[in-house]
Parts: sequence; structure tokens; C-alpha cells
Amino acid sequence: MPSYTIQMLVLGLESSCDDCSAAVVEETVAGPVLRSLVRESQDAIHGPFGGVVPELAAREHLLQVRAVMGGALAQAGVGLKDLDRIAVTRGPGLVGSLLATFSASKAVAWREGIPWVGVHHLLGHLNAARFAAPDLPFPALVLLVSGGHTHLYLARDWTSLQLLQKTRDDAAGEAFDKAARMLDLGYPGGPVVDACARAADRAAEPFTPPKFRDGRASWSFSGLKTAVKLRVERNPRLATAGADDPEVQGLCRSLQEAISTWLLKPVPALAEEHGAHSFVISGGVACNSRLRAEAADLAARTGLALAIPEPRLCTDNGAMIAAAGALLEPDAEPWIQNADADLKLGA
Ligand code: KG4
Ligand code: ZN
Repeated sequence: MPSYTIQMLVLGLESSCDDCSAAVVEETVAGPVLRSLVRESQDAIHGPFGGVVPELAAREHLLQVRAVMGGALAQAGVGLKDLDRIAVTRGPGLVGSLLATFSASKAVAWREGIPWVGVHHLLGHLNAARFAAPDLPFPALVLLVSGGHTHLYLARDWTSLQLLQKTRDDAAGEAFDKAARMLDLGYPGGPVVDACARAADRAAEPFTPPKFRDGRASWSFSGLKTAVKLRVERNPRLATAGADDPEVQGLCRSLQEAISTWLLKPVPALAEEHGAHSFVISGGVACNSRLRAEAADLAARTGLALAIPEPRLCTDNGAMIAAAGALLEPDAEPWIQNADADLKLGA
């Protein structure tokens, strides 16, 4: 059992990709309490490119980091002197992006003498679930699903993740983003596909699930991208019809149903195999309405306790980093630490 430190005020910072975020979290005996959350989106900057441009993201973070950090402290009504700890994402992620909050946090921690800890981004996503479910029963199956990850882990507590399986190619979020791009629905694709799917009267023809030679309930999403492309080629009107078009809406609904169903398929058997008592979903795609609803059905069927963070805590944010950082030992020598674009779990 890890020993959980209690009742401390933590500033959490995250800038691993295209969101610059800071949050103040109070760690209490009953779990973490969110005191403030600030997040600057860069969607307008990267939108025209249909994906994140690393160099632009890094520059923007440098411009945003001071205001984001100051904003989180002001919103919480606290100053640097009140903080017991600063937690920041160490990696993995885009190195230029990571460095903005990483370097700023080290400088502030050094100047003010505040204990500092670097956090693995994925431990952050897991700990986002701690706000709503601090007493989650372990072991837990943990589905981390975003623009870069579609990974299923086994967690024995809030600070450990053991990989069970991952996508064989694209991440599920990438499938949402690329499909939205083909349908000219904007970036990021997930929220707009979700809205279109909810507006649909009926689904289009279902997508065929991938089959694997070894017969495992594995994941692959690159074929789905090709299938959407073929449908658009067959019906070129879809490429420009827009979010209000019933056929576009129907296609979005089929796409969303396919992704949600495929994502959850391996869960019951793996839960049984590993004796899991609970199921966590986190990462940007965990905002998806269909996935959330299907997961609730699955939990009711299997008896697994379900924890999905509220949507603003599913996407990248400083609160999840603060929540994870509260459970870790601060680094003895923060000034010699460095961000790691390829950081491994347990490193
Ligand atoms: O965790 P996140 O903010 O950033 C990383 O990729 O690490 O996740 C972003 C991803 C994008 O691919 C976005 O399209 C997807 O999450 N997303 C959604 C929804 N909201 C965001 N996907 C499906 N449905 C949503 N409602
Ligand atoms: Zn993330």
C-alpha cells in the first residue's frame, strides 16, 4: 500500500501537447479537491493545420505559462507562499511543449523553496479519476484514450500502471480527428463528431470491426480511417455538406458507435482475467457521450465500479498532474531534472 500524504496544497502544471494548464488542488483525507483550474486552448492556432504543429505549440506555451500559473493561484485565492508542492508533467509529450511548464516550475520552486515533483502524464490521467472516485476499489482496468494513446493498463493503486494492451496502429482520438478532417468538420474532431452523432436521426451503415489473425480482441483504427475515406469518395457531397447534414450526422453516429464498441470489447474478459474490481476511462476521448453511456452499461452488466472524470478533467489539465503529484515523493534535486519526451512508466 502506498502511503498517501494528506492535506497539502498543490499547484499542478501541464503542457505536454497543445493545452497549457494550471490548477490548484487541495489534497485532503477524503481525496483531492479542485480549488482552481485554468486551461488555455491552442485549437485556433493548430486548427488550420488539422493537427498540432509542435514548434507553434512550444512558442505559444512560453507566452501562456505565466498567465496560466498566475491565473490558477488567483482563482484559488492563494499565493506561491501557501503552496506545499508544485507538480509538473515530466513526459511523455512534445519536448518543446513540456519544457515551458517544466522549466518555469523548477525556477519558481527553486526561488520560493517549494518541494517539486515531476509526474508521468499518464499517471496524471489516471489520477483525474480520483476527484470523483477517491475510494475506487483496486485492482482497476484503466483505459487511457486520447489523440496519442489508446492503451489499457492494470493499476494496483493510484501510482502504478502496468500495460495490458494498446492499439496496433492509430489512436482512437486520431480516428475522430482524421474523420472530422475528411468531413470538413474542424479540429479537434472528437467534440464535433460527438455533437453530429447526437443530432443524427439514425446511423449510417455500420463499420466492419477489424479481425486479427491471433483471434484476440485487439484494437486497430487505421482501417476505420480508410473506410471513412472510401465512403466520402463514393459520396463526395459528404466532404463539404457540413455538420447539419443528415448523412454526415448518420456517418458520425456509425463512426462513434464503432469506436466506442471496439474500445470496450476487450474489457470484460481482461477484468475477469486480472480480477479487476473497477474500470477507469480517461484522456480526451473519454469525453465522448456514447463511450460514457456504453461504459455505464458495461459496468452495470459486469459489476465493475466505473470512474470516468468529468469532461474538463478528461482532456489534458493541470489538476490531474497535481492529484498525481500529491501521492509521489518530491524530487530531492529538482534543478538537475529534465523533461523527457519519451518518458517510460516507472522511470
Ligand atoms: O487527452 P487529450 O486532450 O490530448 C492528448 O491527445 O493527449 O485528447 C485529445 C483528443 C483529440 O483527439 C480529440 O478529438 C478527442 O480527444 N476528444 C474527443 C471528444 N473530446 C475530445 N473524442 C471523442 N469525443 C469527444 N467528445
Ligand atoms: Zn493526455
